[in-house]
Order: sequence, then C-alpha cells, then structure tokens
Amino acid sequence: MTTIGIDGLRFYVPAYALDLADLARARGVPEGKFLHGLGQRTMAVAPPDQDVISMGASAAEQALIGVDRDRIGMVVLSTEDGVDMSKAGAMYLHRLLELPASCQAYEVKQACTAGTVALQQALFYVSANPDRLALVVMADEARYAFHSPAEATQGAGACALVISARPRIAEITPVFGVYTEEVADFWRPVYREEALVDGHFSIEMYMRALAGSWADYAFLRGGVKIEDFARFCCHLPFARIADKARARLLKVAGVTPDKGRHLGADDCASYGREIGNTYTASLYVALASLLETGQEDLAGREVGMYSYGSGCMGMFFALRVMPGYTAALAAKENAKMLQQRQRISVAQYEEWRGQRLPEDGRTVRLDHFGSARFRLCGCAGHRRCYERSKTKITPAVLPVMNHTS
Ligand code: CAA
Repeated sequence: MTTIGIDGLRFYVPAYALDLADLARARGVPEGKFLHGLGQRTMAVAPPDQDVISMGASAAEQALIGVDRDRIGMVVLSTEDGVDMSKAGAMYLHRLLELPASCQAYEVKQACTAGTVALQQALFYVSANPDRLALVVMADEARYAFHSPAEATQGAGACALVISARPRIAEITPVFGVYTEEVADFWRPVYREEALVDGHFSIEMYMRALAGSWADYAFLRGGVKIEDFARFCCHLPFARIADKARARLLKVAGVTPDKGRHLGADDCASYGREIGNTYTASLYVALASLLETGQEDLAGREVGMYSYGSGCMGMFFALRVMPGYTAALAAKENAKMLQQRQRISVAQYEEWRGQRLPEDGRTVRLDHFGSARFRLCGCAGHRRCYERSKTKITPAVLPVMNHTS
C-alpha cells in the first residue's frame, strides 16, 4: 500500500501580537482568567494589509521550499473568512504561488474542520495520482465582538501542508471517524464581520463530537486503543481545552487518567497559547507545536488527531510520525517568527479592526505594515489586489492612497 502523508508543514503568523494581560486590564477582567483559565498569553493580530490569502500564501511559500511546483496538482484553501462568495480564495494562491495551469484550485468550508476535509481530499488526490503533490492551505482570523467572553481567544494565522506519496513528516492512516449534528454553537452570517458564539454550548458540542467521532473511528478501525497512541493532538480554540479534551477522551474510551497521561497536552498547545485561535489552521499549528516543541522522539509512533468544526462536525483520525521528521520541520524559524513579533496596544488592535476595504468600487492602496512576503495592497473596481514583496501582482496600476476610509 502507498504511504501518503505530510511532506511539508509550515505556518505563518502576522508580525503583531497583543498581550492578553493588556487586554484583561482594558476589559476589567482579572488577568488570571485569560492567562490561566483559558491558558492564553498573546493573541496574533493581523494588520490591515494581511488577510487569509496573504497569510496563506506566506505559509505555503515556506512549505514549498525545495518543491517542484510543476508537480502540484491541487491547491485547496480552507477558511471561515472567504473573501468572495463565488471565486475561490485558492485562485489567488494559485497565482501568487506561481502554480501550474494543470493544478486545480478550490475552497472548502465547514468551520474549523474544513482544514481536515481539505486534507482528506488531498489524500484521495495523491492516492489516485501518486507522482503529484497536493497543497492544503488553512487560514483564518478569529474575530469576536469587543468585550465579549470570546474576545480573548481570537488569533490570526495560516498553515500549509504539502501532501505527498513520499512524506517526510507523517504518514496518515486514511480512516476518519465522524460525528455530525446540526446545531447553533458558533456561526457567522454573511453580513457580519465577527462570529457569534454560544460559548459554553460550543464546548459541550466540541466534547460531544469528540466522543462521537472517537466511537466511529474505533468502530472503523476495529481493535484500536486510545492508550496505544503516543500523543493526542486536538483543535485548540484556546490552550486549556487540550487538557479537558484529553480527559474527556480517556473517559469515553474507558481508560484511567494514569494510563492515558502519556497522551500529553502541553506540547501541542505551546504555539497556540502565543497565537490564539486560527480556526481551520489551529489543529495543524498544534501538530507543528507537538512535533517541534515536544521533547520526546515520536518517530514511528502514532498520534491521535481530533478536528472540530462548529455547526457541527468532529473528525478523528491518526498519523504515524516518520523517521527523521525533525529535519523537514522549521522549529528554529518558527520560534524566531513568534519571538520577533511586535507588541501592540489595545487601542491599536481596536483601530485596525475598524478598518475596512471600501464597498463602492473605489480604488484604495493600503499602507505597508511590516515586511510580510505577501500582502493585500488594496482594491480597485471591486477587485482585491495582492503583492509579493515588491512585485505587484494585480491589478496592474493603482494610485497610492492611505487607507483611512
Ligand atoms: N483566575 C484563573 N482562572 C479563572 C479566573 C481567574 N481570575 N476567572 C475565571 N477563571 C477560569 C474559570 O474557572 C474557567 O475555567 P474552567 O473552565 O476550568 O472552570 C475559565 O477561566 C473560563 O472562565 P468562564 O468559563 O467563566 O469564561 P467565559 O464564560 O467568560 O468564557 C469561553 C469562556 C466560553 C470559552 C469563551 O472564551 C468563548 O466563548 N470562547 C469562544 C468559543 C470557543 O472557543 N469554544 C470552544 C469550542 S467551539 C470550537 O472549538 C470552534 C471554534 O474554534 C470557535
């Protein structure tokens, strides 16, 4: 049987972060609630010239280092922040990343599980076309209302996976346990910038879908035992949920906390507590965190993966870590990217959030914020335009205007 899995895994976060102790002070909340109750320290904040396309392109550009782009047969974007109701965001990625015309490009949606759905499709694609590669890009900006209980769990970023029949990082066992139930725990109507969430109900659904998808997985992969996994990695809307999810999983699997202690939780949350929720990308940022910050050599070991998307669908699957996997990761670069972020004030974060592209077709050119490889540079005639470093991508000519409207 062909081994198919993750050959490249990179994530990108914007160059700005808000300290949650500052947010707690501004909101009149004890900082212990954000830092210990939710387990979060800082929140990644996207400046006005970063969106899911530019962040996704930056993550993908890194994941594609050393890859022959002509071999990429599909690029899928999963996001909850689509920029167009019709045109797939993956079209922009296709152009920005200079992918071949023979590469299909589309977008998938099902809240935070969309990343896993895209991964599953990439596995099918590579299984049918083993000489080709698939690129999965997950990108989101988690946005809730100011002063809401969910505000402290916001974040922004993207993750990119290269899927190959010769994976250097992890082989994916193509069995996906699923739990689906239509509920209103978290949603975002098309006319809203911010998500609506019934917070405690959403946690209840997260746990119910964990139990349901594990039961389906155990049925499909008869004889599997949760304690045989080396680690458990889960969707991370905030870091403290990792402990709770592991405890719930052990309970439903009938395993004592002692026997399941090795499944861990902390190493998969190290990056997430500095970034916040990245919705579709969150589980894969957690995987990068586990593989890059964990102390144990996981080569040859299996990791249980839980993906949750509100609305809701849970998916449980597993991957087996490849020998020599650390050489294909970017632990040092990622630590540097997180450390070098600029701390911004609550006022700055609030001001950026208030900025919007015009909706009347006017031409606007956005200021530069930081030195990201890709950026949203403005819009003209209802078209968004992006640029790669100093090279303008589209449209051809834009008058320079500060973005103040
Ligand atoms: N010091 C230390 N801890 C404190 C504290 C203090 N001063 N004050 C409160 N805490 C603790 C609480 O005891 C609680 O911990 P436990 O859960 O272990 O009891 C924790 O801090 C949170 O406190 P509350 O439950 O009172 O917080 P809240 O009700 O104001 O909001 C939340 C919490 C519901 C998670 C809210 O942040 C939220 O709505 N988040 C967004 C929704 C979400 O992330 N849901 C997760 C599942 S859905 C999903 O995964 C999809 C997705 O990506 C959104």
